[in-house]
Amino acid sequence: MVHFSQAFAAVLLATGVVAHPGASIHKDVKRRQAHLDHPMRRNVGDCKRELVESGWVREQHMRREARLHELRVAAGFAKEGELVRRDPAEVEAKFGERAACTLDPESTEGPYWVIGELIRQDLLTGEKGVVTHLDINVIDTSGCKPVTDAYVEMWGTNSTGVYTGVQARGNGDGSKTAIATNALRGLQPTGKNGTATFITLIPGHYVGRTNHLHTIIHHGAKLLPNNTIQGGTISHVGQFYVDQNMLAEVEKTPPYSTNTQAQTKNAQDFLFTMGKQGGDDPTLHISLIGKTVADGLYATIDVGVNPKAKQNPQPVNMWTSGGGIPVPGSPWTGYPDSCKNCGFGGKPPKE
Ligand SMILES: *[C@@H]1O[C@H](CO)[C@@H](O)[C@H](O)[C@H]1NC(C)=O
Ligand SMILES: *[C@@H]1O[C@H](CO)[C@@H](O)[C@H](O)[C@H]1NC(C)=O
Ligand SMILES: *[C@@H]1O[C@H](CO)[C@@H](O)[C@H](O)[C@H]1NC(C)=O
Repeated sequence: MVHFSQAFAAVLLATGVVAHPGASIHKDVKRRQAHLDHPMRRNVGDCKRELVESGWVREQHMRREARLHELRVAAGFAKEGELVRRDPAEVEAKFGERAACTLDPESTEGPYWVIGELIRQDLLTGEKGVVTHLDINVIDTSGCKPVTDAYVEMWGTNSTGVYTGVQARGNGDGSKTAIATNALRGLQPTGKNGTATFITLIPGHYVGRTNHLHTIIHHGAKLLPNNTIQGGTISHVGQFYVDQNMLAEVEKTPPYSTNTQAQTKNAQDFLFTMGKQGGDDPTLHISLIGKTVADGLYATIDVGVNPKAKQNPQPVNMWTSGGGIPVPGSPWTGYPDSCKNCGFGGKPPKE
């Protein structure tokens, strides 16, 4: 097993490859490595037999195939009743070959998690870019069953690489306007099949990171009357990625093409690279709805979690009807200049 070494950290530092500008990559790398080294680590692939035998893999494949067709018909790219189905046996055989997974967090929440977001499917709130219909299946890898009672939280930057609900120098253009909106953030319950669906954008890129979407999976949370959740536990903190060729197409289209921040490719992003180790793959499976990315995308992924695992990610802000407000005592407050979780303090990381 590959172990994280100080030499590796030094290379990362020297090349300026950091999670977020100035962020402590050391903690993130160690967390992911601890996950990879965990003797009890399981991923979706470990549940292949149970999920295929119960018919779940076939059902989910057929449901997703039908949904993509429905989106194509709605956008005028296909006709109803013309769905050509892929052989489900082939899908079953290939299931779980590479899977997004976790026992421990596979990644970091980063400095821009905002709690108190709304439960809603459509996260666009006026933002422009490549519209993506996201379909996430959550699987309990300890019992090999879909997780039917969780909330999946999603957030990503807008198409020019700025997070909403926060204002920080390190956040894209550092704009004051971003704090007043909750665009591209929200939660969805997993239903009977363990599925949460969102309508969002392919995120833009920002300094030091490839394009990625953040996710957190909540269990046992209480639904409040104002359509937010409270309490419960968090089993999974992860990030989803987009194939580099698809990203190249996306980045060519406006407004992505107007982003002036330096671009980092997947292969240069250490969190992406580590996310791909150990038989995992946090890359979304993406299909075009029409002829080009501008016609919209349909993206799916299966995420394995241990619902009993307890992670402790830290939000920087809280969403309120008046915009984002700071969470008192957050280790991310003041990022990237002065915060508990900021940088290495000029010292090389210690193992
Ligand atoms: C679960 O999947 C089945 C089979 O594809 C589908 O008929 C059903 O509508 C799905 N249920 C939910 C709540 O999405
Ligand atoms: C992204 O958000 C920032 C901050 O609100 C804004 O300045 C920028 O125009 C947005 N990008 C697009 C494409 O709307
Ligand atoms: C929802 O209700 C909670 C509990 O009263 C409150 O703290 C929170 O600010 C409210 N959120 C919004 C967006 O109104």
